Amino acid sequence: AEVMNRVPVIWIELQDCAGNSEALLRSEKPKVDEIILEIISLEFHETLMAAAGHQAEAQMQDAINTFKGRYLLFVEGSIPTAIGGYYGTIGASGETFEEHLKRLSADAAAVVAVGSCATFGGVPAAAPNPTGAKGVMDIVSGKPIINIPACPANPANMVGVILHYVLTGELPELDSLLRPKFAFGYRIHDTCERRVHFDAGEFVEEWGDAGAKNNFCLYKMGCKGPMTFNNCGIVRYNDGVNWPIGAGRGCIGCSEPDFWDKYAFERPI
Ligand code: SF4
Ligand code: F3S
Repeated sequence: AEVMNRVPVIWIELQDCAGNSEALLRSEKPKVDEIILEIISLEFHETLMAAAGHQAEAQMQDAINTFKGRYLLFVEGSIPTAIGGYYGTIGASGETFEEHLKRLSADAAAVVAVGSCATFGGVPAAAPNPTGAKGVMDIVSGKPIINIPACPANPANMVGVILHYVLTGELPELDSLLRPKFAFGYRIHDTCERRVHFDAGEFVEEWGDAGAKNNFCLYKMGCKGPMTFNNCGIVRYNDGVNWPIGAGRGCIGCSEPDFWDKYAFERPI
């Protein structure tokens, strides 16, 4: 049934680990129950809905018909394109993930790709990319697309996009990689709590050394904060409890395109 004033959302999961769903569940401001009960009308979400099988498929079709042209389609996971897309099929009809994504995006107001798999292919697209994994923007055309990368995407940024849409009826301003500028306008290195140590030339040289105990800069241990655009140093994760660099591990550039091949190793570039 139609619910006014709440943005209808259909959330689909493709080739992924459900980490972005898990992240959304840990949204703190607002909490996920407030998001679901007061801000959005979550019409379909495999891991959160009670329905399964044919009942779930009927619910999805009902949502598409009811909210045609008005729902936000959230996509989590990459799209396998090798061997005709048959690395990933879904539903009774056996449609491929690619067909599924195209069908659902056709009637969406906009498509929000969450996590590095849906945005840039992520870990499934890492070399040698056996499934031919791609991100949403390589598959969908003719619709506004918003990319919220990171592994997982920060719930603050998912909620930020939703609230911007609820309050203004428009999508936030995006950069050249279709990322909202409010979240991806700065490098990790620009706002990092260890930046004073970088500027002072104080580095961790070896895991567990005196520099590590003193929270020195992690650049020499492979931190990719200088190449990575994201706001996790400001908003952190789990209600601001911590983030990778706060926990003593360098940034692996998880929100950048091709991060697994380009950045996820323990040496400076
Ligand atoms: Fe920059 Fe990384 Fe050092 Fe922080 S820990 S100052 S992001 S190099
Ligand atoms: Fe990812 Fe780097 Fe932030 S690894 S979570 S972008 S600190």
